[in-house]
Amino acid sequence: MVNRDRFSKLSFETNLFFQRIMKEHLFFIETNLQPAAPSHIAKAKKLKLSMEKLLAEAVHYSNCLISDNALKSNEFVTPYTLKAEEVTSALTGASLDMEITKAELKLVCDPRYSYENYFEAADSLNKRTYKLLQEVIKFQKELIEEDSACEIFIPLYPQMLEHDTHEAELYLSILESLVNMQMPELSTCDEVNFWNMIMAEHAEFFDGMLDPTEKELKALAAAAAEKFNELEDECTQATQIKLLNESKEATRKLKQYKVDIATGLLRCKIKSIIPPLLADHVLREANHYLRIMSNNPYMG
Ligand SMILES: [Fe+2]
Ligand SMILES: [Fe+2]
Repeated sequence: MVNRDRFSKLSFETNLFFQRIMKEHLFFIETNLQPAAPSHIAKAKKLKLSMEKLLAEAVHYSNCLISDNALKSNEFVTPYTLKAEEVTSALTGASLDMEITKAELKLVCDPRYSYENYFEAADSLNKRTYKLLQEVIKFQKELIEEDSACEIFIPLYPQMLEHDTHEAELYLSILESLVNMQMPELSTCDEVNFWNMIMAEHAEFFDGMLDPTEKELKALAAAAAEKFNELEDECTQATQIKLLNESKEATRKLKQYKVDIATGLLRCKIKSIIPPLLADHVLREANHYLRIMSNNPYMG
């Protein structure tokens, strides 16, 4: 039998982080598909709205319950999220429920609260999210296939569609354990290998999405990609501690770079095809990775 307190806490914290990430992937798809694919645009929007509803529910239950270190990690929202949403929604014309973000910015931690009474709510949320996420993954895989067959045009890198789907599959594997009433078990090496690959790809995306004239920022992105590519798949029992330290250092550096990109875009000081919300999105993923490296909640 799982510990109801630990189960509920991990469920809400996992959903708070990943549901927002998933709905933003759908937002990026919705806003990059072309008018020639109206049914895909409608589907992306519908899935985004469904995921937003579940996120609003997670936020509702999480107040007071959430742990201090998760809250302070800025992996759920950052100081830039709301502004990035306002700007990106206004410039694309696609909706983002910013009331959720405002509620998340007010979340507090109160260690006197027990998660135990929220066990049923957590279980129900996990099950509905699991079902929706399967649909999201199926949709994204269909897009990848159609894109690779040149049946649709979407100005998102094919590698980015794959990348988003890998993140969705990691989330699905965590939810799969939770819906089966088991605590997810992801070793530090599993996490480090996965997230170092993700960090390398973020740097590659930025390198490719910055204007060719932004030479300095592009060079920094290329150097970060090279560093993470070196670190990728190096993790074994023997190398784990050294790799963890190097990964922490590289991720802290990349995190600062992402802050600079996000704030630069919001001040309209950087030439690129990076939507501000994407810069904030990848910043949250770095914050999540940093928290996992200092205290892995997915290890028994
Ligand atoms: Fe993502
Ligand atoms: Fe990512």
